[in-house]
Amino acid sequence: MIHELSNPVAKTLLNHLRETKTDALRFRHIVQELTRLLAYEAFKTEILEQQTITTWQGEQAFEFIKENDLLFVTILRAGLPMIESATALFPKASSGFLAMKRDENTHQSVLYYDRIPECKGKTVILLDPMVATAGSLCDAIMVIKSKSPKKIISLNLIGSPEGISILEQKHPDIDIYITQIDEKLNENMFIIPGLGDAGDRSYNTEE
Ligand code: PRP
Repeated sequence: MIHELSNPVAKTLLNHLRETKTDALRFRHIVQELTRLLAYEAFKTEILEQQTITTWQGEQAFEFIKENDLLFVTILRAGLPMIESATALFPKASSGFLAMKRDENTHQSVLYYDRIPECKGKTVILLDPMVATAGSLCDAIMVIKSKSPKKIISLNLIGSPEGISILEQKHPDIDIYITQIDEKLNENMFIIPGLGDAGDRSYNTEE
């Protein structure tokens, strides 16, 4: 199911990412803020568990998200600021990494690095800023599904209607939380109006 954020704060922050004068440091900072907003939304209905902690009044039980059951997986490299933000929110969660590169001629994503820990019993939260053709995200979902997690959630900043529709068809079982679905893909498979390439914008590279 697709959940597009209607939050005005999220929209404002996302639109700052579209500005070319937003430099790499601020770009990564906004990506981190948006990741938090997406996480708040994604965990809105999460079941909490009682944990006993030592407080100033002695041992008491309070409700917490089961952080140990969370596994954040990002797709290098544009997803790096997202995983920094998510794991700062949940420091006991584990992390996994996939690296994919989109072939600029065929527009297909190619997996070249896979470092995902055990997924059984985990809620896997995929983190990637952009869903253009959805090739990268679909490939990542297939990698994760082959490791039998309890649940998969995806947090994304910006997508195309074409990519989102492919995700809905291929993976209707996955909850996608996204800040904004833009107008379309262009002939080079870039999101329009979009924000350029999130990896290049984050790390001052031009490919
Ligand atoms: C971008 C982005 C996604 C992918 C989306 O990565 O971060 O992973 O493209 O495109 P798709 O939906 O058509 O697969 P890119 O390949 O530019 O690598 P980068 O993160 O290193 O910049």
